[in-house]
Amino acid sequence: MVKMKLFSKKICDWYQLNKRDLPWRNVNDPYKIWLSEIILQQTRVNQGLEYYHKFVEHYPTVEMLAKANEEQILKLWQGLGYYSRARNLHKAAKQVVAEHKGKFPSEYNDLIKLKGVGVYTASAIASFAYNKAYAVVDGNVYRVLSRIFAIDAPIDSLEGKKYFQELASQLLNKSDSSTHNQAMMEFGAMYCIPSNPNCSNCIFQNDCMALLKNKVSDFPVKSKKTKQAIRYFNYLVIHQKNNTFIEKRIEKDIWHNLYQFPLIESDTLLDSKKLIKHKRWKSIFKKDDFDLNKEYTEMKHLLTHQIIYARFWNVKYEEVLTQYLLIKRLEMNNYPLPRLIERFLEA
Ligand code: ADE
Repeated sequence: MVKMKLFSKKICDWYQLNKRDLPWRNVNDPYKIWLSEIILQQTRVNQGLEYYHKFVEHYPTVEMLAKANEEQILKLWQGLGYYSRARNLHKAAKQVVAEHKGKFPSEYNDLIKLKGVGVYTASAIASFAYNKAYAVVDGNVYRVLSRIFAIDAPIDSLEGKKYFQELASQLLNKSDSSTHNQAMMEFGAMYCIPSNPNCSNCIFQNDCMALLKNKVSDFPVKSKKTKQAIRYFNYLVIHQKNNTFIEKRIEKDIWHNLYQFPLIESDTLLDSKKLIKHKRWKSIFKKDDFDLNKEYTEMKHLLTHQIIYARFWNVKYEEVLTQYLLIKRLEMNNYPLPRLIERFLEA
C-alpha cells in the first residue's frame, strides 16, 4: 500500500511533467474558475474549452453575467446539454451581486449556498482560487482512489461518497491543495482512464491494490445501473409561407426554457395515419385543412438517461395557431435550441 505522505508527492510530480495547459489553470479569479467548473461538469475538456472562452469573452465579470438575460445565456450554452447548469449559473451570478456586492465569496460555506454549487464545486473554487485545504472528488478522483486502494464501496451510495471524501481529505497535501487536486483529476482524466489504462507503466504499479489483484476493470463500483428511458418525439415543422411556429419548453423536463417546433410526444412510434389520430394533433389542428407530408426526417438522439426517437413532420397550414409563436423560418436559429433541433436544421 502506498504511504499516505508519498502519495501526494508522487501524483504531483507526475502532474508537473504531464499536465495539459488549460486556461482556467492560469488564473486565480474565482469567477473564471467557477465558470470553468460548471462548464466542465458532465463535459469533456475539449468540448468545454470553446464554451469557456465564449463565456469569458461575453461576460468578463460576474456582474455582466448577472445582468445578461437568460435567453442569451442559454443561446451561448446551446449544444453543451444539462441546461439547468446554465440557468443556475445565471441565478448564482445574481446571488453574488445581491448578497456579496459582486465580489465572489471565498468561504466554502458561502460558496456552497450559490445555486448549482455543490460539495465538489465549492471545494474546487476554495482550493483552486484560494488554495484552501478542501479535497475535490469528481468522477476521475473516484476512479483513481477506488483502484489504488481497491475500495468497493459504491460511488453512487451515500456511504461510498462519504468514504471517498474522507480518504481524499486524508491524502490531501494541505499546503498546496490546488496542485494536489488538479493532479488527482488530471491523473484520472489522462492516465487512470476508464478502459484499458496503461497499468504496466503506471507510477502506482507497485501500490495499486486493484492492479495487484488483477481487477482494475472492476473499479469503481456502482450500485445502480443507469436506466435509459425511451421517448418518441413528433415535431411539427409547420410551413406558413416563409414562417413556422415554435414553442418554449416550460415543463419541468429536459431542455427547460429552450425552444422547439410544436411537439407531440407519443408512447410509441407513429406513422402519419396514427399521428393525425393522436389527441394532441386534434387539439392543435381543429379543422381538417392541414396538409401533412407523409415523408418525415428521423433522428435518434442520445442523452445520458434517455434515448429519443424523433420524427420531423412537414405540415402546410394557413390558419392561426395562437398557442405557438409565429416566426420567420430563418430566424429559428436566434432562439436557444436543443442540440437535436440544431442537428435537424443543419441537415
Ligand atoms: N474537470 C473538471 N474540472 C477540471 C479542471 N479544473 N481541470 C481539468 N478537468 C476538469
